[in-house]
Amino acid sequence: MINGPIGVFDSGYGGLTILRGIRKLLPQYDYIYLGDNARAPYGNRSFDIVYRFTLEAVKELFSRGCPLVILACNTASAKALRSIQQRDLPLMDPGRRVLGVIRPTVEVLGELSPGGHIGVFGTPGTIASGSYEMEIGKLYPHFVTTGQACPMWVPLVENRESAGPGADYFVKKYIGSLIEADPEIDTVVLGCTHYPLLIDKILQYMPSGIKVVEQGDIVARSLVDYLGRHPEMETRLTRGGGVQYLTTENPEKFNDLAALFMNSEVSAVKL
Ligand code: DGL
Repeated sequence: MINGPIGVFDSGYGGLTILRGIRKLLPQYDYIYLGDNARAPYGNRSFDIVYRFTLEAVKELFSRGCPLVILACNTASAKALRSIQQRDLPLMDPGRRVLGVIRPTVEVLGELSPGGHIGVFGTPGTIASGSYEMEIGKLYPHFVTTGQACPMWVPLVENRESAGPGADYFVKKYIGSLIEADPEIDTVVLGCTHYPLLIDKILQYMPSGIKVVEQGDIVARSLVDYLGRHPEMETRLTRGGGVQYLTTENPEKFNDLAALFMNSEVSAVKL
């Protein structure tokens, strides 16, 4: 049995919003963050490609000793998680675990949504996969779910334009389309880990009375609960409180934008 850090994977920077949430509640563990920045964004990529890239990342994190990997990316969770859990994990190492971000997010919607009308913002890949509708339908069959793809939001964040006028235009546009599709929406999920970087503008243009759900704290609470229920996994996690950042792109470039997500300096290594 290998002991090691918790692996956190995203196509790029977005998963840092999840890592931040997790480290707030679980600072005692070690973490390895892997951003596949060289091949991001995943949002428009096909099912097969997202699956292949995600599996490579999981294997990389396993090879570095992670007993547990969180896919801190909705696109990867939507398109690759099920295949990895059901097909690959039993062959690779049935003792390790790979968890995603969609299920924990959906689980809290029952408490959050008074009327059961849910809006989901996500990448084109996440929305086209229908994963949120499917998971929400399993837990809350009477809920109405409306997805809105936001193809411009990740590029705005990745290009440091989240506070600029382009962001105002595209935030207003996607909120407008969502509300037009279902005017009864009472709760909106930010179903992409990049979107919390646009939260100020999203709250500015969201009609009042509509709740906006961010995933960082939700995924963190769900992980606390998971580790409480799985002591056999918890005891395999090393406790040094450190984070190692890996990127498939240029580390200086990564450090620069990652500092924005983490609110502190980071020092990444090229994979
Ligand atoms: N952060 C990823 C997510 O949560 C998407 C970013 C991308 O398009 O690569 O879906």
